[in-house]
Amino acid sequence: MSASGKGRFPLFEEARSAEIVNARIGAEVDARTRQIAETVVRHLHAAVKEIEPSHEEWLAAIRFLTDTGHMCTDWRQEFILLSDVLGVSMLVDAINHRRPGRATENTILGPFFVEGVPVLPPGANVCLDGKGAPLVVEAEIVDIEGNPIRGAMVDVWQTNDDGFYDVQQKGQQPDGNLRGKFESDEQGRFWFRTVKPRDYPIPDDGPVGKLLAKLGRHPHRAAHIHFIVQAPGYDTVITHLFAPDCPYLGEDAVFGVKPSLVASFEQVEDAARAQSLGVANPFWHTSWSFVLQRSEPDGDSAK
Ligand code: BEZ
Ligand code: FE
Repeated sequence: MSASGKGRFPLFEEARSAEIVNARIGAEVDARTRQIAETVVRHLHAAVKEIEPSHEEWLAAIRFLTDTGHMCTDWRQEFILLSDVLGVSMLVDAINHRRPGRATENTILGPFFVEGVPVLPPGANVCLDGKGAPLVVEAEIVDIEGNPIRGAMVDVWQTNDDGFYDVQQKGQQPDGNLRGKFESDEQGRFWFRTVKPRDYPIPDDGPVGKLLAKLGRHPHRAAHIHFIVQAPGYDTVITHLFAPDCPYLGEDAVFGVKPSLVASFEQVEDAARAQSLGVANPFWHTSWSFVLQRSEPDGDSAK
């Protein structure tokens, strides 16, 4: 830079701050990286100009992000949780999974999926701790035209009746409680026994929980069962089935509820049927169809 301040790049000035920062991006940088960096800088500077934070407020924001990072471990991803409660996880998913009307919609994956769960026989009871109201889930997997998809693999997981996943209570809950993998049969069907899902709070003992409290928001998720449905040649569906009577359906903490994913649960009082299904009487029952769309020829059918 010369003594007059004239160099390759313009010096900082408030009015053109974003433009001046973006002018530093190298000419060799690829178009997508450039687009992302320029957009983030433009919106960040616009937000700061609108908010006009004091130094103390800006330091509080830095401290919040620092605490969020410190909270992260192999088991706890506080930044994803932040993205979840800000609705960004659902937005990114919506942008990447614009499906035709009939296809089952995606929703949030959440942090409690476990890879490599064993495949269970049809009708297996995934509830190993005996808590909760029995629920029978009978489901089919079909393509957009309604043809059955056999050999699809379905991961299933949910909290126990105390509102915790097995991985949150290692040593307290049986390993693998309320989790299983099922394969669809020749008619594209599978079924399993479980318990009626309940609402539960997302992990709120960290910075994200403090943020929710500060914003007057509760941490509760609407009652749901998680599913990942995978079949060769079809788009993988990562979704939930929501209980219809949950008071949090309209105010899920991570914006995961979609009307098409709310099931109907019927309460059945029928001793003979209960006995043939291997559940206590009375019990809850739901039927569900997962509709998969074919993946693009060179598209990604993986998660
Ligand atoms: C869940 O459904 O398990 C979940 C989703 C997002 C954040 C936390 C938990
Ligand atoms: Fe969940």
